[in-house]
Amino acid sequence: MGSNTTQKLFTPVNLGALRLGHRVVMAPLTRSRSTLPGNVPNDLMAKYYGQRASNGGLIIGEATNISASSRGWLGAPGLFTDEQVAGWRKVIDVVHAKGGKMVAQLWHTGRSSHIDISGTQPVSASVNPGYWQDPDKLISAPGGWVQPSPHRALALDEIPGIIEDYRRAAQRAKDAGFEGVELHSANGYLIDQFLQDNSNHRTDQYGGSIENRARLLLEIVSALVSVWGDNRVAVRIGPAGKWNDMNDSNPDALFSYVAAQLNRFPLAYLHIVEPRVKGNIVVAEGQGAVASEQFRKIYKGNIVAAGGFEPATAEAIVEAGNADAVAFGRHFISNPDLPLRIRENLPLTPYDRSTFYTFDAKGYIDYASHAEVAV
Ligand code: FNR
Repeated sequence: MGSNTTQKLFTPVNLGALRLGHRVVMAPLTRSRSTLPGNVPNDLMAKYYGQRASNGGLIIGEATNISASSRGWLGAPGLFTDEQVAGWRKVIDVVHAKGGKMVAQLWHTGRSSHIDISGTQPVSASVNPGYWQDPDKLISAPGGWVQPSPHRALALDEIPGIIEDYRRAAQRAKDAGFEGVELHSANGYLIDQFLQDNSNHRTDQYGGSIENRARLLLEIVSALVSVWGDNRVAVRIGPAGKWNDMNDSNPDALFSYVAAQLNRFPLAYLHIVEPRVKGNIVVAEGQGAVASEQFRKIYKGNIVAAGGFEPATAEAIVEAGNADAVAFGRHFISNPDLPLRIRENLPLTPYDRSTFYTFDAKGYIDYASHAEVAV
């Protein structure tokens, strides 16, 4: 026990314009606690994020819908109404009061939705009936977990409207007081559905070649940069990620191209989910941080690594220079003071999976800080 002041995790770093005091980042975590109807961030969420804020620390907010029709998870918050902006402002004020910083993760769920949540037929790159016919594929909807609704392919002339929804949500994130935005391009949601070729069979300029499949992502990044300027836009990718039935015939070539193209933008960071994790579970126990290592050689800017990190492996990856910061998901759920616990070598509290996506305070704001545990 005791403080280990030689840890590189606890040295300052600038992720673009985000000037951080340490490198333990809170990963984006859907927790389904926004107020319904309206998907409005509330006092419960302000308390939760406030508990997890630290001086000089970065919180990546949970995936946040850019439009009503982009919704696909009951209770997820949005950034498409003034009420939501006001709700987020209260959350961010609490984070700022503790010296923390927060970015919004912008989310379109695409086909991973049900019409009772999105209010309209879900959309994707192409139509893949196997996705909604899979009895194991479940969506959190009013009344419980249900199979996804049949989706349709976005028409070519609808794509500018999707990009505009991202741009408007980015503007609302700015109005709410976030420090920046992260584009959610991982885990099989809309952008990933365009990227990977088992879900994208389009024959127009958004399908076919890798260049075409990456076009939507790059056009959205341009739109986000047009709102935020340099160094406050980030992108989260899940190279070779399989969550939500994703697959690609050549993930190395695809994600290498994406990482190389992102060098064109002055991003705050590229956020890489390691393939040893599938969504919210570890599927390749013992596998190293292979994706961060691979894309470090291609992507010239800052890398935030995520997926299956423990304090020691997080320290090792920043020491090795394969990441500039490390995002923790599940440990942050059950350890509100995670940066302190890592810095001081304090034991970590285990998380309870059964309350990840429930709708109240239990398993959300009742995890104690180490000081409270000690009492
Ligand atoms: C997640 N994850 C996730 N990822 C994302 O990009 N946006 C999100 O909103 C969510 N939501 C979410 C909810 C819950 C309850 C879990 C457990 C996970 C994935 C998360 O950010 C992270 O990549 C994984 O949890 C793996 O990291 P850890 O938990 O091994 O540190």
